[in-house]
Amino acid sequence: MKIVHFSAECYPFAKAGGLGDVVGALPKYLNQIGHQTSVLLPYYARIELSENERSLCFSTSVTLENNEFTASVYKVTDEDIGFPLFLVSVEGLTDRPNIYGYEDDAKRFVAFQRVGLQFLMAQDDLPDVVHVHDHHTGLIPFMMTQCPEFEKLKDIPTLLSIHNAQYQGSFPHEWGGLLPEFPETHVGLLDWDGMINPLATAIKTAWRVTTVSPTYMEELQQHANGLEGLLSHEAQKCTGILNGIDTETWNPKTDPFLEANYGVSTFAKARKINKTKLCNAHNLDPEVPLFGFIGRLVWEKGADVLVQALEEALNKWEFNVILLGSGDPALEERFKNLSEWYQGKVGAYIGYKESMSHEVYAGADFLLMPSRVEPCGLNQLYSFRYGCMPIVRKTGGLKDTVVDINDGGLGVTHEETESGQIVSAIERALQFFPKQTAFRKKQKEMMQTDHSWEHAAKKYASLYHELIKPESNEQ
Ligand code: ADP
Ligand code: GLC
Repeated sequence: MKIVHFSAECYPFAKAGGLGDVVGALPKYLNQIGHQTSVLLPYYARIELSENERSLCFSTSVTLENNEFTASVYKVTDEDIGFPLFLVSVEGLTDRPNIYGYEDDAKRFVAFQRVGLQFLMAQDDLPDVVHVHDHHTGLIPFMMTQCPEFEKLKDIPTLLSIHNAQYQGSFPHEWGGLLPEFPETHVGLLDWDGMINPLATAIKTAWRVTTVSPTYMEELQQHANGLEGLLSHEAQKCTGILNGIDTETWNPKTDPFLEANYGVSTFAKARKINKTKLCNAHNLDPEVPLFGFIGRLVWEKGADVLVQALEEALNKWEFNVILLGSGDPALEERFKNLSEWYQGKVGAYIGYKESMSHEVYAGADFLLMPSRVEPCGLNQLYSFRYGCMPIVRKTGGLKDTVVDINDGGLGVTHEETESGQIVSAIERALQFFPKQTAFRKKQKEMMQTDHSWEHAAKKYASLYHELIKPESNEQ
């Protein structure tokens, strides 16, 4: 089967969070089971993309609100990442260093989607399935079925994966000129609450919808930042498929970012070396239990409540904390303040640092994830793989993957993103930590848990098969 993914992120070239990890891995695993999967990514002006060799494979232009933009598609040729990667460049729009955060993001992503579709139209061999991810690529199923410009693609099945329904990419109808021509009477497909809402549009127009965990699928029908009614209405075409992890990239045996590599029989000694290095870098005592946090500093991750809980817990018990994150400036400030007030107990790095995230999974004893919303969550799966015990709020994918130690599981869970509950979870972790034999046994089990993409890739492949089946039956 020939599958094309459209995404705003793809590891190792452009990653802001888990979306990048998923799109950098799923295509590779699909190809390993015999499919031909490629990825289309905007050509950002990022260092990770500047050093690659690439060949020009398509040149065009795109007219957005009466302005013409020069556009090209390049294929990355020098790196074997397990799938063909195509970079979609729109001059003046995609060529910026950051993935998100510009005033004209709506225009940037519409341009990416339109040029990507033009590129597909120019191929002799059309894909069997087009797979789009989140709102940044959510207008593709609409354009493929409604816009005469893309008539040739209208019968190709489309699949939308919702990684995060908090972000929907809405923009006013006045910007409708960003889109190619479509029948005016079908404008309702674009609309949600008086705005053009790319995520809602994709839910309405994609052939199938997946969410990144089964529990998140259920939760979305109750709370989806205004889209719950739509998701309940479309429930019959929605499925929850839990993400996997790339066990090649995330492998403590070979991870180039680690001071000491390790496997299940050598983890205790090696993790101690990694912990010592991490602690020394942040002026923390490596003999004390170490709790980590890694994440985007946004409301969904519960970082605000975490700071409150940590203050209370640090005043009561002996433990250290390492914080890695960036995002909301007010939350960044609170992280910084915490590390200044609790010098020698709290270390913080404000920013995005891939290498440090690996060091934290491989050196911290526990990883805190008090998320209010967590569609899947990959951090807890990386934590398992590296033998670091996750402490999670039971929501979304965290609920689907982490069972409490009191129930024979491998993590500490709490019901709500609430300071008192986080403090109690920390207390339970601290009580368990000194039971070294039991703790090591859990670490070993964590490292042996199989969350590889191999399983999830098969689930996606059977969904794709279901979508193309009617046509293959006709043949
Ligand atoms: P989300 O996609 O909501 O951010 P996930 O748990 O799915 O959450 O994935 C987060 C990914 O981003 C993980 O690979 C995590 O290690 C990484 N990450 C998040 N923040 C940072 C950071 N500040 N520096 C390095 N890696 C980070
Ligand atoms: C989103 C979600 C996260 C999920 C990731 C990958 O960013 O917030 O929970 O793991 O996408 O699907």
